[in-house]
Amino acid sequence: MEFSKRISSLPPYLFAEIDKKIEEKKAQGCDVISLGIGDPVEPTPKHIIEKLAEEAQNTENHRYPSYYGMPQLRKSIADFYKRRFSVDLDPDKEVLPLIGSKEGLAHIYLALCDEGDTALIPDPGYPVYQTGAIIAGVKRELMPLLDENKFNPDFSTIDENIARQAKLMWLCYPNNPTGAIAKDNLFEEAIRFAKKNDIAICHDNPYSEITFDGYIAPSFLQYEGAKDMGIEFNSLSKSYNMTGWRIWYVVGNARIIEALGRVKTNVDSGIFNAVQLAGIEALNGSQESVEEMRKIYKKRRDMVVSTLKDIGLAVEEPKATIYVWVPVPEGYTSESFATHILEKASVVVPPGNAYGPSGEGFIRISLTTKDDRLEEALKRIKECL
Ligand SMILES: Cc1ncc(COP(=O)(O)O)c(C=O)c1O
Repeated sequence: MEFSKRISSLPPYLFAEIDKKIEEKKAQGCDVISLGIGDPVEPTPKHIIEKLAEEAQNTENHRYPSYYGMPQLRKSIADFYKRRFSVDLDPDKEVLPLIGSKEGLAHIYLALCDEGDTALIPDPGYPVYQTGAIIAGVKRELMPLLDENKFNPDFSTIDENIARQAKLMWLCYPNNPTGAIAKDNLFEEAIRFAKKNDIAICHDNPYSEITFDGYIAPSFLQYEGAKDMGIEFNSLSKSYNMTGWRIWYVVGNARIIEALGRVKTNVDSGIFNAVQLAGIEALNGSQESVEEMRKIYKKRRDMVVSTLKDIGLAVEEPKATIYVWVPVPEGYTSESFATHILEKASVVVPPGNAYGPSGEGFIRISLTTKDDRLEEALKRIKECL
């Protein structure tokens, strides 16, 4: 049987591959510690679980959900944007719930691009920006995020012809995988560049609530002209320890939201109503757990940064996200360092180049491991160097 060309050019998903390595090591009897995927170990707050349990009992919620999400959920999202970012959103036209933002990141290509169109993709970046393009037959032009630019893109280096051809540009701040934050004028520059070249901006903002040291992350939609040019994916999977629940949303330009909604109504049937009602509880209920998680991640960030500095690695303290982007020691590549740690310390970390060629020379450490296991992992890394 012949499969599509698209499937043969689609790499296996990074963390599916990492899971395989973990299983192999475990089969050898090793006590493996994964600092790989950003998936909180702490549970979803109790009041959200209780709401799900209650709503799951209501048989009305067992039927197909509304395609565009419950109106109450869209309103709660718009209220959150007003409260948190002072951004006004029309809940009927500018808000679209998603089955986790990952599906939206991949489906947006089907709404905005034809086969052969071009997308500008940060390098390194969250893998779905690239794999979504591959699935949709879209050409990928990488925007290097370099240490010397504090891992922000430099629009002046983008070839004019490529800029004119581009249909879509990704941004992600606070950034996965580098932990960088947006420089002061990034979004203004991006909007000017996108207007000049008629490019839709897709800003991916899942770490807006996980910030430290007094830093408050903005929404792209706070900036003048943003809604004319783009949308913002804002997943709260990490903020509320709800990665498994598969909910959250995209907001912004009404025409783009309508187009993505049209793709989705033909592909999926929305989010289980009980999960949507629990999502409303997350947004409108107590936010104490979010503050608690910030404290936990800050403590772990400090532990990682100080240990790695002791070893002599020039690590920057991230002001946001659940990741530390670590330059590898001299004499190693991203791959050889990740392999060394796996072989000698049974600690799993993704090599930086798995997020794009400009990630070469780095590994990413995720802070979503319990303190004692993280401490043990750091001790083992120190010993094997
Ligand atoms: C940058 C980025 N975007 C999107 C996602 C996906 O989040 P969700 O759980 O909403 O699908 C992640 C998850 O790790 C992420 O790091």
